[in-house]
Amino acid sequence: MYKPKGPDYQDVEGLKIPKAFSPECLRDSLRYKPKADDVFIVTFPKCGTTWTQHIVINILKRGLPPESFEEFQKLSPFMELTGPGVVETMPRPGAIKTHLPFDLQPYSLQAKYIYITRNPFDCCVSLFHHSRTLPIYQYSDGAFEDFFEIFINGQTEFGDYFDHLLSWYEHRKDPNVLFLVYEKMKADTRTDVLNIAKFLDQEYEDMLVKDVQMMENILLQTSVEYMKKSTNKHFGSFFGSVHSDEDIDNKNIPEGLKHILNYMKTINFKPQSELNFVRKGIVGDWKNHFTPEQTERLRRKCIQKFEGTKIPEFWPDIFK
Ligand code: A3P
Repeated sequence: MYKPKGPDYQDVEGLKIPKAFSPECLRDSLRYKPKADDVFIVTFPKCGTTWTQHIVINILKRGLPPESFEEFQKLSPFMELTGPGVVETMPRPGAIKTHLPFDLQPYSLQAKYIYITRNPFDCCVSLFHHSRTLPIYQYSDGAFEDFFEIFINGQTEFGDYFDHLLSWYEHRKDPNVLFLVYEKMKADTRTDVLNIAKFLDQEYEDMLVKDVQMMENILLQTSVEYMKKSTNKHFGSFFGSVHSDEDIDNKNIPEGLKHILNYMKTINFKPQSELNFVRKGIVGDWKNHFTPEQTERLRRKCIQKFEGTKIPEFWPDIFK
């Protein structure tokens, strides 16, 4: 029987995560108790997480972008990867990244949650390229036809795209949830930057309305062109290189990141100074990847999964 080859994952607590991640960090993260001033940025992978993190950091830093990967990850740690210890010591205000479905997400009515979604066609393509690009997945020769099967059957990291989205969609109107759509944010970034600022604190929205230049700087510094240059270099220096034992020991980084760097020493890959983490950042790249048959199958799956919701209205071009 045909068995599609997927990226290197492991199952921990019923959830698929990259094999390179520390299982302990995930387990500890699931037990994290949110604090009243916690802000979470939650997504299914490849739906605009890094973009939203940069917008939030630029707002919190009053118009300045993160200076390095280290600063970025301090201000917006990926909890399942780093473990929750980092969240305890995160400079505040900051924003915690997670990829958890609602039922696994550490939740408190006092904490805030920014959830961003993206159409499943582009999400599938983006996750395919992500898995091929990052050495930890051992998938540089991965084929789209295989990855498509993994995606449509809900066997990717962090579970099933549809269940993830539906779990948060139910909470889209909760007062402590800001629910965003990648395509809408792309079409009118200014409006969503203001929405995010207001959600963080009215003071931030007032600041951006008053300081026109700061708003323009944030739009520039969170544009895909700008982020391609800065973020890809930051990620490359970290996830694209082999780090020596001494270097890893000396690095002032969380255990979860050290776990990944140690894992990378056990696999074969060609070091790269830049990683295409910010790739195209466009809407509709799926048309360059999907066959008519795959398009039809995913469309049918969407119709079945989204029945009774207004989700198809997020993507009128796909669900005409
Ligand atoms: P593509 O692979 O389609 O280009 P995540 O951060 O959740 O991993 O999502 C990654 C996707 O968001 C990638 O999509 C990436 O290019 C896109 N992205 C990153 N920065 C962006 C930006 N400033 N504007 C628009 N899209 C961006």
